[in-house]
Amino acid sequence: MENKNIIGLEVENSNHIAEALNELLANHQIYYQNLRGFHWLILGKNFFQLHEKYEALYNEAADTIDEIAERILMIGGTPLHTFEGYLEIADLKSAKDIRSSKESLDVVEQNVLFLTNSIRTILKQASKNNDEGTVAIMGELISRYEKQLWMLSAYNATID
Ligand SMILES: [Fe+2]
Repeated sequence: MENKNIIGLEVENSNHIAEALNELLANHQIYYQNLRGFHWLILGKNFFQLHEKYEALYNEAADTIDEIAERILMIGGTPLHTFEGYLEIADLKSAKDIRSSKESLDVVEQNVLFLTNSIRTILKQASKNNDEGTVAIMGELISRYEKQLWMLSAYNATID
């Protein structure tokens, strides 16, 4: 008989998915902190719009971070929960001293695109393990981020 976890999914496959979700979590933490930095440091004529938009995005990212971490627990893993742990496995780079609209928007777009592609990979992996719960969370995230990418690129097209 196959070894199953508390929600009835195969343990070894779930552990691999938990690992991938921990990478997604770590990358989201970098994305979150990049947004906070932009919210604080942004200068110029788009200040009011972007200051507010970045706050909305980091609040959304915080909810997503919580959802990913709790999913890791449900499938039998332990979510990374230290800065050191995140930095060790994150692929995204910390944005530092960025104050312009254009530069910050470019980073946000690149970060969201990277996250979207990682999520697509996890969705396929979860689907193979019949992990519909993870598939549903990843599917919701993909459609949300795809919409965000469209909106960010539409807005970014007007920025000098
Ligand atoms: Fe603030």
